[in-house]
Amino acid sequence: MESPVSVDAVRQALGKLCPNGVSYHAEWASDAFALNDEEGAHLEAATEHRRREFATGRHCLRSALEQCGFFNLVISSDSDGVPIIPEGSLASLSHSRGLCVAVAASTSSIQILGIDIEKTTRLSPAAMLRVVHSLETDWVGANRIRASLLFSAKEAFYKAQYVRSRCLGSFHDLALKIDEERQTAKALYLGEQFPSEMKRYLDRLHIRYQYVGEYVMTLCWLS
Ligand SMILES: CC(C)(COP(=O)(O)OP(=O)(O)OC[C@H]1O[C@@H](n2cnc3c(N)ncnc32)[C@H](O)[C@@H]1OP(=O)(O)O)[C@@H](O)C(=O)NCCC(=O)NCCS
Repeated sequence: MESPVSVDAVRQALGKLCPNGVSYHAEWASDAFALNDEEGAHLEAATEHRRREFATGRHCLRSALEQCGFFNLVISSDSDGVPIIPEGSLASLSHSRGLCVAVAASTSSIQILGIDIEKTTRLSPAAMLRVVHSLETDWVGANRIRASLLFSAKEAFYKAQYVRSRCLGSFHDLALKIDEERQTAKALYLGEQFPSEMKRYLDRLHIRYQYVGEYVMTLCWLS
């Protein structure tokens, strides 16, 4: 598979994204990472590409969790697709076009944690409309890279909150203000369906992003 960015560059970008207490790992999907039968039991009918990405994602997740002191893990998924990880840990993973990234932390320092990686070259104009909230339209205009950043940030937020609240949401249920100088985002609007505790914590919610090659990577956490 073609590797347009080096895994070292991705790991460097992860290093800039992650605050103290958050561990990370990244790999390009490869057959070097064997699929564990128990973890991948639901993937019998999946494509080779998906099985390879899943196995590589699990390797990244295990590596990030090991750095936090959680060893020898078999990480199955629950019925919502969320990885089942040990009590006392938090973790999140994302894959895009063969690139896999994962983060982990202990719940003693971090309360919610989500990561997302997306290519910045793929959103169609119709998809951009689905992603961008009316409060974000002026900033995005026709800029696909900016829309991809919002896509990534909203997915990272969604994954982070879902593990705690099991709350579903669409892209128009969150509006963000991006600070391009600091490479951070703040929530301007959050849909009614999200728990009130999430709204109380919005000021303390961190969203940070990094571009690496044609990818954007976003981390969302509450400390
Ligand atoms: C679940 C979802 C977030 C996955 O994102 P994606 O870009 O399709 O895929 P990614 O590669 O980034 O992430 C997939 C990984 O996230 C994890 N995951 C799956 N569902 C999850 C969930 N509900 N919550 C947290 N993590 C989840 C899994 O580890 C999965 O990888 P695996 O199947 O190999 O274990 C996305 O498909 C989705 O349903 N989004 C809802 C819409 C949305 O984001 N709205 C924004 C509202 S604020």
